Amino acid sequence: MLGKFVYANPTKLYFGENSLEYLTGELERYGKNIMLVYGGGSIKKNGIYAKVVQLLTGSGKTVFEDAGVMSNPTLEKLYEGCRIAKENKVDLILAVGGGSVCDYAKAVSVAAYCEEDPWGKYYLRKEEVNNKIIPVGCVLTMVGTGSEMNGGSVITNHAAKAKIGRVFGEEVFPRFSILDPTYTFTLPRYQMVAGFFDIMSHILEQYFSGTDDNTSDYIMEGLLRSLIHSSRIAVKNPNDYEARSNIMWTATWALNTLVAKGKTTDWMVHMIGQSIGAYTDATHGMTLAAVSMPYYRHILPYGLAKFKRYAINVWDVRPEGKTDEQIAEAGLAEMESYMRELGLVLNGRELGMDETMLEGIAQGSFILEGGYKVLNKDEIMAILKETLQA
Ligand code: NZQ
Ligand code: ZN
Repeated sequence: MLGKFVYANPTKLYFGENSLEYLTGELERYGKNIMLVYGGGSIKKNGIYAKVVQLLTGSGKTVFEDAGVMSNPTLEKLYEGCRIAKENKVDLILAVGGGSVCDYAKAVSVAAYCEEDPWGKYYLRKEEVNNKIIPVGCVLTMVGTGSEMNGGSVITNHAAKAKIGRVFGEEVFPRFSILDPTYTFTLPRYQMVAGFFDIMSHILEQYFSGTDDNTSDYIMEGLLRSLIHSSRIAVKNPNDYEARSNIMWTATWALNTLVAKGKTTDWMVHMIGQSIGAYTDATHGMTLAAVSMPYYRHILPYGLAKFKRYAINVWDVRPEGKTDEQIAEAGLAEMESYMRELGLVLNGRELGMDETMLEGIAQGSFILEGGYKVLNKDEIMAILKETLQA
């Protein structure tokens, strides 16, 4: 049911080929000191770094670099970024990379001037931000997380074996994001398909909640159909602009708060996947892939009507002559064969999981209550065991 809500999304998007040209105009709004945040070097290889630095120096900015943001950014790295930001009094954090770099930039933006330990305040206790926030802008190079237009920021604390996401409010959303689909052409295939599945998972986490006639569900079915269609094209031809641009746009709308309106939202695949990530440091989208089939088969009986709708409206399952259960199961079978076609990881062992970790992963999985079934730890253990047998 669409109850009462407020909707706003302050991120300005610049979309399309060569949209980096808009960076100069954006830079005029901020002071001189720019912190350029990026990952392990892909942007140097594909030339994006050189273009960004040219625009920054051409705009008379002083650039402070913070390189080496790893996938699944760590708390130690966050402390380092906070020092760089504070010491150099940066006016804008410019994140050039994927979700990890964007998430990290947001974490630095709230943590640099935080007088307490940001891990405790913002990630464990989820307190409001009451200190200075440094503005963030993004140039996206990897598609999947939606971090370019949301307040999400996931940090991994290896010492505590915890990977925790925080969803900050509008004031922490990127001020602007530049989305050039051609920047994603150089992604390795493994990262590309992991991102595709991350998008699918974001949509499903919101879709599989509630049973009423909600506009968000119709939007999500459209997004899913577009994603499935375009991803099949992109795996055959990664340089297909139409497919890659559709996917980039779908990813943004999958997790920029719009489709969550009126939904309780589930997020258990992410909770379990993140805990797997804390133990294995595996690629985010692949952790979700490994959990999804056992999880959805487990909750199907509790959300049968919605799984039936999913099978028919998203996977074109023909309902004639089938029971509701058969229709719903046929939908999940279609999903599984699509996942195999893309080359996604369905077996947790390929991510470095083994039996000795399962108890810890289950303990580290936060249990949320917005889905069709509130899981207990035994059910999480059963799902995890299945991921080792897929
Ligand atoms: O580090 P570099 O060298 O740049 O290489 C990266 C990295 O190895 C590479 N890459 C990125 N763009 C490339 C490229 N390689 C070649 N060409 C390009 N154009 O891809 C690898 C993965 O990048 P990463 O940023 O780690 O991936 P992703 O975008 O999937 O981000 C994952 C992080 O986002 C969090 C995840 O938990 C994980 O920590 N999430 C954030 C969310 C949010 N903000 O709302 C929600 C998501 O559910 C997710 O939890
Ligand atoms: Zn995700």
